[in-house]
Amino acid sequence: MSPTTESATGHESSWRAWGWYYDALSAARFRPGEHDFHANLAAAARGVVAEPACGAGRVLAIAKGLGREVWGADAEGAMLTLAERRLATLRPDVPHHLVRQGLADFDPPERLGLVLLPLDAVRLTADRRELAALMATVAARLAAGGCLALDMDLPDAPRRDSGWLPSQPHPDGGRTRARVRQKLDGGFVVEETVYRTTGDDGRVTEAWTEDRYRQVTLSELESALQAADMAVTQRCVDFLGTPWRPGDTTLVLTARR
Ligand SMILES: C[S@@+](CC[C@H](N)C(=O)[O-])C[C@H]1O[C@@H](n2cnc3c(N)ncnc32)[C@H](O)[C@@H]1O
Repeated sequence: MSPTTESATGHESSWRAWGWYYDALSAARFRPGEHDFHANLAAAARGVVAEPACGAGRVLAIAKGLGREVWGADAEGAMLTLAERRLATLRPDVPHHLVRQGLADFDPPERLGLVLLPLDAVRLTADRRELAALMATVAARLAAGGCLALDMDLPDAPRRDSGWLPSQPHPDGGRTRARVRQKLDGGFVVEETVYRTTGDDGRVTEAWTEDRYRQVTLSELESALQAADMAVTQRCVDFLGTPWRPGDTTLVLTARR
C-alpha cells in the first residue's frame, strides 16, 4: 500500500487512493443548516451551478436534485468518478458536466447562476495570487446578480483531531478506519491522515497522507472579492445565519456580482 498519492496538481493528497473512504463518511453528512443553505441558493440560482474542487459531488448533488444544471471540476480523477456515479443517479433529464481541472486552471462556462466553494476550498489555492485569480474568474463567469457561496476555517481555528472515525468496507476486502490530525506548517494547516486497514486475513496495514490548507485571512479573502467587484452579501459564522464577529474562527460567506 503506498503511503501517499500525488494529485494532478503535484501536491500530496489522500483523494486518489482514499476518496472512497471520505465519500462514505461525508456524502450524507452536513453541518447544521448546511444542506438547506445550499439548497436555498441552488433553488434561487438563475443559471448553471458550478463547483471547483467538487470532490465526489456531495454539494452538487443537492443542486442537481433540485433540477439545476451543474458543472463540477476537481484535480483528482478518482473523485470525479465518484461524483459521476452520484450525479448520474439524479434527475437524468438535467445535464451535469464534470471536468478534471485544478483551481489554478479554473475555467467554467459563462453566465453561471451560482459558484460554490464549500469546505475550505479557497484554502486549497497555492497562494494569494491564485486566490485572487480564482475570484476574478468567478466574477467574470457569473451572470449579473449571480452568487458565490463559500465556507472556511480562519487562521485562529483550533487544530482538529478527529479521533478514530467509523470503519468502512475496503473495496479490496477488509475494513478501513481513519484518524485525521491537523498541525501547523508555516502558513499552512497540514491534515495528516492515517488509514488503518484490517484485511479479511486479519493483517493490519497503515497508509499516511497529507493534505495542505493555506491559512487565508478574512482580509485577504475580502480584498480578492473587492478587486473582483464582488459585493459581500452575508458574513456568518455558521449555516444558520449567526452573524460573524471579530474573533470568530469559522466563516460562511456569500457575495454577489
Ligand atoms: C474535502 S474534498 C471537498 C469536496 C467538496 N467541495 C465537498 O464539499 O464535499 C476536497 C477536494 O478538493 C480537491 N482538490 C484539492 N486540491 C485541489 C486543487 N488545487 N484544485 C482542484 N481540486 C483540488 C480534492 O481532489 C478533493 O476532491
